[in-house]
Amino acid sequence: MNHFTALADVPDLALLLERAAECKRTPNAWSSLGRGRTLGMVFFNPSLRTRVSAHRAATLLGIDVVSMSPGSDTWLLETRDGVVMDGAAAEHIREAAAVLGRYVDILGIRSFAQLTNRDEDYAETILERFVACAGVPVISLESATRHPLQSLADMLTIEHFKRTSRPRVVLSWAPHPKALPQAVPNSFAEWAIAMGYELVITHPPGYELDERFTAGATITHDQDAAFDGADFVYAKNWSSYHDYGKILCQDMRWQITPEKMARTRNAYFMHCLPIRRNMIASDAVLDSPSSIIIEQAANRVPAAQAVLRTILEAQ
Ligand code: CP
Repeated sequence: MNHFTALADVPDLALLLERAAECKRTPNAWSSLGRGRTLGMVFFNPSLRTRVSAHRAATLLGIDVVSMSPGSDTWLLETRDGVVMDGAAAEHIREAAAVLGRYVDILGIRSFAQLTNRDEDYAETILERFVACAGVPVISLESATRHPLQSLADMLTIEHFKRTSRPRVVLSWAPHPKALPQAVPNSFAEWAIAMGYELVITHPPGYELDERFTAGATITHDQDAAFDGADFVYAKNWSSYHDYGKILCQDMRWQITPEKMARTRNAYFMHCLPIRRNMIASDAVLDSPSSIIIEQAANRVPAAQAVLRTILEAQ
């Protein structure tokens, strides 16, 4: 594995999951593998889990880490080609990516969707420019359309908690006051389908995701029917893909409540975090024994460690 920007970069998903499980069991077993190597992390957007878990994973492998936030502690970057740079951006992404590639051995990039132009977001302009110009392996720390490190941790979590070989996994839209990208649900659907789970996606009309990510899933506007017999409920808000970036619904009846969880087969509750309490899900769900959100977040470390380890071992 060279880059890790999408499921398509993973040559063997089962092997990567096995490696993540190994990293969880014996995190200190590869403590000198990355000695003398540096991971650079570029955050165009805020982060708690991704920033800290990737840093921790790198440290466990003996890798040095440098993090930066363009426009805050490094120069604001211009991403368009052919423009007169007389505005706020002092440096072009072409030079920044190429220079960082000379300083570090692996680059992680967080670059969210802007939610104004679907074609531009789905072209992954920033991430792809780093892949093209850096000359070192690039890891997505959540891009405009995908969050593969989150998905790997999600699959590791489901594999640990599942009670049947092919669990019924429900991805449910839930209300939120702001327009959010589709990266997490896109990625979750893509990975859950690749795992062979029974994936049911439920959302209000107008929230259909890009079919390139959801082909193979059952899609329904009936949240109650979706929850019937569920083994896992993965809650997430996203803005409309087809009416791009728009909020079409804020119906609080889509919030995950104990009454809804009671329809399931004692399902575990999952969310990538951060979560707005009593918007996406009620306190009673988040604080119940069925909630595995903290274990899920903890699995971000072995997931990131497995990815870094796999990249290092391929070099
Ligand atoms: N789930 C996740 O990526 O969290 P952060 O945005 O805090 O990194």
